Amino acid sequence: MTAGMPELVGRLAAARDDALTKIAAASNLAQLEETRHQVFGRKAPLAQVRQGFRDLDEGERRDLGRRVNEVQQELEGSFEARKADFEAQELELRWERERADVTLPGDAPPMGSIHPLTRTMWEMVDIFVGLGYRVADGPEVELTTYLFDALNTPPEHPARSELDTYYIAGRVDEVALRTETSPVQIRTMEAQEPPVYVLCPGRTYRRETEDATHTAQFSQIEGLAVDEGITMADLKGTLQHLAREMFGRDLEIRLRPSFFPFTEPSAELDVQCFSCKGSGCRICKNEGWIELLGCGMVDPFLLDYVGYDSERYTGFAFGIGLERAAALAHDVRDIRAFYDNDIRFLAQFGGML
Ligand code: DAH
Repeated sequence: MTAGMPELVGRLAAARDDALTKIAAASNLAQLEETRHQVFGRKAPLAQVRQGFRDLDEGERRDLGRRVNEVQQELEGSFEARKADFEAQELELRWERERADVTLPGDAPPMGSIHPLTRTMWEMVDIFVGLGYRVADGPEVELTTYLFDALNTPPEHPARSELDTYYIAGRVDEVALRTETSPVQIRTMEAQEPPVYVLCPGRTYRRETEDATHTAQFSQIEGLAVDEGITMADLKGTLQHLAREMFGRDLEIRLRPSFFPFTEPSAELDVQCFSCKGSGCRICKNEGWIELLGCGMVDPFLLDYVGYDSERYTGFAFGIGLERAAALAHDVRDIRAFYDNDIRFLAQFGGML
């Protein structure tokens, strides 16, 4: 079947209308892409008009060729314009979806701060590291040989009682939660030869009725120095340095006689009240002095126990209650507050690392 010029011109017009309708009907980029084949493909109406060329004469063929090209160009223009519209629309939608107001304030994660006990402990460790001490460590679950026997604590001593000490179930009188950091003295000396200059911060446990000044779990910092020629004057000078660094340079200290099984002589260290400077106030309970720690000259029993030559070496030791020191430094009236984990309390100590 052959088609003459008028019919081909008619089919060209129909192909154009059909194509424009299809392009206009597409409602998004994907649908428009589907019409590409239907409009410009090898079997599309426009292509079929081109196939009719072979039945035309030279003049008609040129004429129709020009018209077909015009339609082709018009359709391509219409297709591309529609495509550009859809792309612009899609970009706008994406901007809308991903819109961010960079002038809004950010969500700042709440910052924590160093716990006041940790901070006080670090301060003390810093002071002693500055004097050449190293930090030692020991177990919180301790053998009574280290906790009592090696520390010259006699079998009938009340500290050994189950009323005072948490024993591990089934191991009463054998294994306990340490009631003080002093056993680290023994473990440290067993592990090395003198000279010894160590500081040991750690947790300790006692079967206490809790109140404003007692908790069943608390912390101590133990200090130990063993060397040739160490005297009570070294103990006093060292502790004076500690007290002044912690509480104030102009403060006096005093040693009061006391008793501990592992020191001879034994003493308690008082520091002049940093609040009233000795005249008496609420913090020092009108004493003018604040009790800070227990200390003394290492009993030769301990030195012999670990195999040190107690004729040649002497030493001093001390033990500080960390909660008490921190409470004094920050005027905290109930040490249980250190363990309540109330952010409002902890945040007052502020400050990051
Ligand atoms: N361990 C003692 C206590 O818990 C404190 C103490 C006193 C430690 C004298 C010492 C010391 O090292 O020499 O009460």
